Amino acid sequence: MGRAAGAQLLGALSQDCPKQLGARARPAVINCRSACQAVARGVVNWRGGSKAATPGRPGAGLREGDAPFTSSLSCSAVVVDMLHHLDPQPGDQVLEVGTGTGYSAALLTCRVGADNLVTVEIDAGLATSARTNLAKLGMTPQVLVGDGEQGWPSGAPYDRIMSTAAVREVPTAWVEQLRPGGVLLTPLDTPFGCDGLLLLTADGHGAADGHLINGVSFMKVRGQRDRRSFRELGWPLWEDYRVRVGPVGQRIRTVP
Ligand SMILES: C[S@@+](CC[C@H](N)C(=O)[O-])C[C@H]1O[C@@H](n2cnc3c(N)ncnc32)[C@H](O)[C@@H]1O
Repeated sequence: MGRAAGAQLLGALSQDCPKQLGARARPAVINCRSACQAVARGVVNWRGGSKAATPGRPGAGLREGDAPFTSSLSCSAVVVDMLHHLDPQPGDQVLEVGTGTGYSAALLTCRVGADNLVTVEIDAGLATSARTNLAKLGMTPQVLVGDGEQGWPSGAPYDRIMSTAAVREVPTAWVEQLRPGGVLLTPLDTPFGCDGLLLLTADGHGAADGHLINGVSFMKVRGQRDRRSFRELGWPLWEDYRVRVGPVGQRIRTVP
């Protein structure tokens, strides 16, 4: 995200964060960094610096035996970038998939208001601790336990849906639960060795179109951990990428 866009986002966050964070926030101008850090301190007792993710805590349900971690706090720079692209407006109805610690839910609450945010977490223990974390900040969005791949139909239609867990295939339920013109943002598994941040806009006729923004790295939603064929998922194969090198340089395109 460019500096100007970042400043715009931070300015937007700053309108509501002081009210929401009460005594924790500075009374006058609050910039994005302080807003994010204030939220992070309240949510995960994070003190800033370069730490990008919190490892599992005992009892938090973040790890199943020796299996890989099942939840982590997303890198705050990535979260801010995602919020920039999601561009939620005050009063928008928003669904978040993957509550985790409640950090991104807190930032979303700052922007749209607690009454307008539904956040779904598959791990009941995590949902409970996220509720506690958010309550410490005086925030009471709906934190629900469920399989976010189904969305949350009773809160639909949504102006914005943001998943903080990656998918290999975008659940159709998310598209169905978007308002016409509504925006969906999710990390999508790609054949390029990372996830791609995908931005889709609902066309009002049951479909959504969009594009990848940049590379990110997220854990997969619980039901989509197993690898699948990229061809089956609609991706071009390696040999579908055609490369031409000539006097004008290199050109790359995909064959239809
Ligand atoms: C990268 S973490 C989310 C970080 C979180 N947004 C935060 O601010 O701390 C991904 C989360 O998605 C949750 N998750 C995985 N599959 C899910 C599903 N099908 N429905 C809802 N939550 C899911 C995981 O339990 C994990 O907490």
